[in-house]
Amino acid sequence: GKAGPDVVAICARHQASEGPLLPILHDVQAHYGHISDDAIQQIADALNLSRAEVFGVVTFYHDFHREPQRTHSLKVCRAEACQSVGGRDVWAAASAAADSHHADVQLEAVYCLGNCACAPSVQLDGRTIGRMNAQRVSALFARAGT
Ligand code: FES
Repeated sequence: GKAGPDVVAICARHQASEGPLLPILHDVQAHYGHISDDAIQQIADALNLSRAEVFGVVTFYHDFHREPQRTHSLKVCRAEACQSVGGRDVWAAASAAADSHHADVQLEAVYCLGNCACAPSVQLDGRTIGRMNAQRVSALFARAGT
């Protein structure tokens, strides 16, 4: 990703303060949504730190994202109760949709959503949906992607 002059400006804003690294990282993430490799390099340069030092701090705090975050989150249950009643097809359809729609959906495999009675289960933006199938999960993607 391109970090650009905004990272330099953010660094300049905090450089004089004591312990500038965390405030800079927070501002960079607020601005870009994540902290890219380029940004890490620029921050390291600005603060006279090594790349590894900045990288270490970014990865230590779970609030910092190394990749752009998608708007929606879709968790697909891949545990046994769901897998045995069509969960594999749901996962396959979700993976295909994630690749083909360029959907703004972060796909993630999870292991039991506590909704086994209505398997196969998925969770879209925190809402658990049961009795999923390949067709329905593709439709969820299509809707979320637009
Ligand atoms: Fe899928 Fe429990 S195994 S919800």
